[in-house]
Amino acid sequence: MKMKYFLLLIAFIVVGVRPTFAGPLFDKFRETQQQYLTDFGNQYLQEVGEHVFYPFGGPDVTYPLLMFPNFEVLTLMGLEPAKPVETYPVALDNSALSNLSSLYKRSFFITDQMASGLRNVVALILKQLENLDASDITVQAIEGRSNAVEIKFIYKEKPRTIRYYKAGLDNKQIEKNLDLLKTLKPFDVVLFKAASYLPHQRKFSTFRSFMLENAKTFVQDSTGIPYKYLKDHFKLDLHGQYLKPYKFPGGFEQVNFRKYSEELNNKKLNIRFGYGGGFVPTNILIATRKKDVAL
Ligand SMILES: C[S@@+](CC[C@H](N)C(=O)[O-])C[C@H]1O[C@@H](n2cnc3c(N)ncnc32)[C@H](O)[C@@H]1O
Repeated sequence: MKMKYFLLLIAFIVVGVRPTFAGPLFDKFRETQQQYLTDFGNQYLQEVGEHVFYPFGGPDVTYPLLMFPNFEVLTLMGLEPAKPVETYPVALDNSALSNLSSLYKRSFFITDQMASGLRNVVALILKQLENLDASDITVQAIEGRSNAVEIKFIYKEKPRTIRYYKAGLDNKQIEKNLDLLKTLKPFDVVLFKAASYLPHQRKFSTFRSFMLENAKTFVQDSTGIPYKYLKDHFKLDLHGQYLKPYKFPGGFEQVNFRKYSEELNNKKLNIRFGYGGGFVPTNILIATRKKDVAL
């Protein structure tokens, strides 16, 4: 083979198989968003308890770890598969790396991107823990369920646990997961971010009612529980501004939530939290159950 073609072949192999590298994106995230999220949590989420429930969370452990100063147990649910992997070294394939890039760049994982090649969320979770300087990480399968994994680790000198369950939460699939959900209640705090507006939809009504009956606090963007279900029974504290849904098929406009936001006239947040990509302002709603509303 001529030298020129040989060099071209090498260049093709190197460029062609090089994974999307999340390193520089994470560096940027660490320099800006990491501090903003930590500050937000320290300022506004000191009162919420130790159990963070994150339905439609997929593999996102970065946001709950940074935002909730008291968290000891994080329960994640999503449709992505999970099985234990060796903890060290954390090796990510190309698909996992490009998904991780999405988290650091856009602030969320994309369901379709994960569905098209991500075979296991666990390495992706471990890599985020490693990036946040967690230590003493152990991983084991949760007995009695497939695609259910428990991860224990030390973060900021305290032992913590993450449990990930592959679990469908729409009305068709929730029946087989209700027993599990019941073992988790009451929920100190329920986090929704980039939840594809699923809690707005009729086919998630059973899940939505269950959450409204059993959560002490919601921390969410506008893809979470609609304002109309929260306004009477929860004390609302909106940060940032709610303007409109961002380019999502199906609408999910919330006219009264927008009015409420306009009356508050909050300043814009520099935090990236869910859809919008800088085109629609970020909103983080903290909804705390009123004392006279029974759990
Ligand atoms: C857009 S991703 C966002 C993940 C995460 N909240 C974030 O901010 O990176 C939406 C998540 O919802 C999950 N999901 C979609 N449909 C679901 C269903 N029917 N039941 C449970 N989870 C579902 C997906 O598997 C995915 O993990």
